[in-house]
Amino acid sequence: MSAALKNWLSTEPIQCPWTCAALLFVGGVTLARFALKTLTFLSQTFVLSGKSLKKFGAGKGSWAVVTGASDGIGREFAVQLGKAGFNVMLVARNRVMLEAVAEEIATKSVSSVETKIHLIDLGKRDQAAWDGLKAQLAAMDIGVLVNNAGLSHDIPTYFVEAPAQEVEDILTVNINAVVRITQAVLPGMIERKRGLILNLGSFAGMIPSPMLAAYSGTKMFVAAFTSALAEEVRSHGIVVQHLNTYFVVSKMSNIRRTSMFVPSPAAYVRAALSKISLSCGAALTGRPDTLTPYWSHALLDYVVHVVGWKSRFIAYTHDLHKDIRRRALRKLEREAKKQ
Ligand SMILES: NC(=O)c1ccc[n+]([C@@H]2O[C@H](COP(=O)([O-])OP(=O)(O)OC[C@H]3O[C@@H](n4cnc5c(N)ncnc54)[C@H](OP(=O)(O)O)[C@@H]3O)[C@@H](O)[C@H]2O)c1
Repeated sequence: MSAALKNWLSTEPIQCPWTCAALLFVGGVTLARFALKTLTFLSQTFVLSGKSLKKFGAGKGSWAVVTGASDGIGREFAVQLGKAGFNVMLVARNRVMLEAVAEEIATKSVSSVETKIHLIDLGKRDQAAWDGLKAQLAAMDIGVLVNNAGLSHDIPTYFVEAPAQEVEDILTVNINAVVRITQAVLPGMIERKRGLILNLGSFAGMIPSPMLAAYSGTKMFVAAFTSALAEEVRSHGIVVQHLNTYFVVSKMSNIRRTSMFVPSPAAYVRAALSKISLSCGAALTGRPDTLTPYWSHALLDYVVHVVGWKSRFIAYTHDLHKDIRRRALRKLEREAKKQ
């Protein structure tokens, strides 16, 4: 340090005590908020348990309705909710797979629970089929609804090249079905003054995903819809949560092996059902009624939020999807040559 600077520092009185105090105050409050939210994130993710499923009718004859229950995450929700004591209504298109899930529920559930299979193509705008489902739902005591059925692009594709029918199906399954089924279930929940609605979202809804633009947009819708609805029905004793999901082993993710950041559907659903009403990874992000339940996804959510450089994450995702598309096209070419 130069002698002149040393001299200035030792002799110059502070000219702005109020400005310094204000800056110290703002800095202190910011640090305290960050520390509190970090503590919330850590305790919710690694220590605390969420609301018990008993509060939503487990073991009391109530039903859990799971859409997309034939495979992946939805299949696990159906099995674990059955194990928890709910009767389970399984909704999807594939009868054989749904029957296998019903059988698994019957063998794995300790208490005797009922299952019901409802076949419907949620991607079709078939009014008669919707009316049939609505009538069934209205007559049941539903404690839990899991809006899980979801559809993404076959492979990452630029929106301008995406087949129109594929885009239409994504919008119908990921948005219309969620809204319609929620509308059918909600009046009964309000009457009974209890209910849990879990809407499967995606990191692609938090960080816009180039080359999955339509999918990404639908998941952003799910997040906003959930948050608004949750506030509307909170006073009726109903919990509505958006599950912010990163990669999970499934047909949709096209990932077959688990790793630190890619849990199995069973591990993911176990985490989700044990953290109802909490936020975990979403605690820091200021997104009400969002839950990032699985510990490594929670960590990612936290890091993305702390780094906060969204445009960089979007660019990274774009590069990643370009690479995935290149590899998927090469694989298709190889398979075509074999035939
Ligand atoms: N896996 C991941 O990495 C990941 C990441 C983020 C978010 N998510 C979300 O998690 C949810 C479940 O994904 P997943 O990975 O478990 O997918 P998945 O293994 O592909 O299963 C999708 C389920 O949705 C059903 N479904 C699809 N289209 C349907 C239609 N038109 N009508 C009725 N049912 C339909 C399928 O049943 P049928 O074929 O029998 O009809 C199947 O049961 C989705 O909402 C997805 O967006 C998943």
